[in-house]
Amino acid sequence: MGKHPVCRVSELPPGSRRIFEVAGRSIGVFNVGGRFYALRNRCPHQGGPLCLGRLSGLVLAGAPGEHQYSDDGLILRCPWHGWEFDIRTGRAVIDPQKTRVKAYRVTVEPPRAETYPVVVEDQVVYVHL
Ligand code: FES
Repeated sequence: MGKHPVCRVSELPPGSRRIFEVAGRSIGVFNVGGRFYALRNRCPHQGGPLCLGRLSGLVLAGAPGEHQYSDDGLILRCPWHGWEFDIRTGRAVIDPQKTRVKAYRVTVEPPRAETYPVVVEDQVVYVHL
C-alpha cells in the first residue's frame, strides 16, 4: 500500500500511456488531456492485458437512427475480446454494477527529497533511519 512514484509528468505526455510494475502489480497509467488515470493491467474477463487496449469514447443510441458520442478517450477496450471499461472508475460499460477492474488514484506532486533527523551528542553524529 502507500503511494509509489512511477515517472515524471514529462515522461507521460497527454495522449500517452505506460505500463508499470508497482508492488508486484502490472498497472497502466494514462494521460488523457492532462488528467491521469491508473488501472490494473489485467482484464476481469480472462486476464488479458487490458491496458494495451485502444482508447475511444462511448456511443449511446437514444432511438433508432440517433446516436450520441461522449467520453472521448476515456473508454478502454480490452485487446483480447473487446470488453470495454471506463478508465475513470474501472467499471465495465456493459455491466458497471458487477464487473470492474481495479482503478487506482493518481496524484501529481513535486519530487520529494528524503531527509532524516540528525542528533549531535558528545561530538558523535547519528543518523536515525
Ligand atoms: S480478456 Fe479482456 S475481454 Fe476477454
